[in-house]
Amino acid sequence: MIVNEFIPKPYSHLLENGAVAYSAPSNIALVKYWGKKAHQIPANPSISFTLNNCKTSTTLKFKKKTTDGFSFDVFLEGDLQTDFKPKIEQFFKRIEVYIPFLTAYHFTIETSNTFPHSSGIASSASGMSALALCLVQIEQQLNPTISKEFFNKKASFLARLGSGSACRSIEGDLVVWGAHANIQGSSDLVGIKYPYEVHENFKNYRDTILLVDKGEKQVSSTVGHNLMHNHPFAEPRFAQAHSNMDALMAALKTGDLNAFISIVEREALTLHAMMMSSDPYFILMKPNTLEIINKLWAFRAQTGLHICFTLDAGANVHVLFPDNEAKEIQEFIANELSVHCQNGHFIEDNVGQGAQPIKI
Ligand code: DP6
Repeated sequence: MIVNEFIPKPYSHLLENGAVAYSAPSNIALVKYWGKKAHQIPANPSISFTLNNCKTSTTLKFKKKTTDGFSFDVFLEGDLQTDFKPKIEQFFKRIEVYIPFLTAYHFTIETSNTFPHSSGIASSASGMSALALCLVQIEQQLNPTISKEFFNKKASFLARLGSGSACRSIEGDLVVWGAHANIQGSSDLVGIKYPYEVHENFKNYRDTILLVDKGEKQVSSTVGHNLMHNHPFAEPRFAQAHSNMDALMAALKTGDLNAFISIVEREALTLHAMMMSSDPYFILMKPNTLEIINKLWAFRAQTGLHICFTLDAGANVHVLFPDNEAKEIQEFIANELSVHCQNGHFIEDNVGQGAQPIKI
């Protein structure tokens, strides 16, 4: 795959105005992306479950203009947002060569999340993928010959340039991003649907997100990724991600839940270990993050149930478990873990099938 395939031929005509809309999910990485090169190229491959309930819906209205440069307004839940503008402006700059009509229109971006904005759940993956999908939908109106396959590929390619993990939010249910020797079709440029057999144990896997800290992140992911340059453990970490991917592939095939747990928890703790050993170092876990992890381990030892956790770049805990153990584990979460959440809040989610167009 080469980047040039995403540069379109000149359009025969431009529409005067219009509107498109897409809903895109969040995703939770099992093998983590942490560290990147220029142009949003990941330092190692990652794989994630696409979520079902945590989503961003975006309507993109466009109207022809005659002025130069980018012109857009962003609304979140109906309110004009100026703090999102720099990130979107940077996104537009990165993708202008692939979406030449970006300067031809004034855009109104109306977006809303199913999860509260102040939940500490990153909306960049679902937000950037929804916006990328809207842009490709406009491109499809200008060039109706675009195939479904190319549509998804280009949306993932663009989303990656908005936020790396966003390229894993186009399709479901497991998505790989980053070239890996043993995964056919894997690429640093786009996320692809995991191409191999997955055991029944991983169907409709559950993810309950425990909202430990709803505040803004103290350290952005972008800053964290950059701290992997010159990190003393960077090279062994990147190599470990490749071998963890191999081990996870074996577990996904055979349905080995214990192997899955061991890889996923090690990945989460390694991610945070990288943060704790960078220069400057930082800690994103909170006391309640550790309380939850310790209680979860004790419950797993006591019951033999296949509950485990993963973490993103924050204090919230994603509790993962198989569908057929959901009843007991959900009771445990409500009775024992929710007390460690801010205002007792948690979000029940499960693995989903990817983004959907919205009829407008
Ligand atoms: C810890 O995708 O938010 O969630 O590319 O700079 O926008 P940028 O970073 P981002 O990083 C997410 C990192 C992670 C792990 C993961 O999702 O793989």
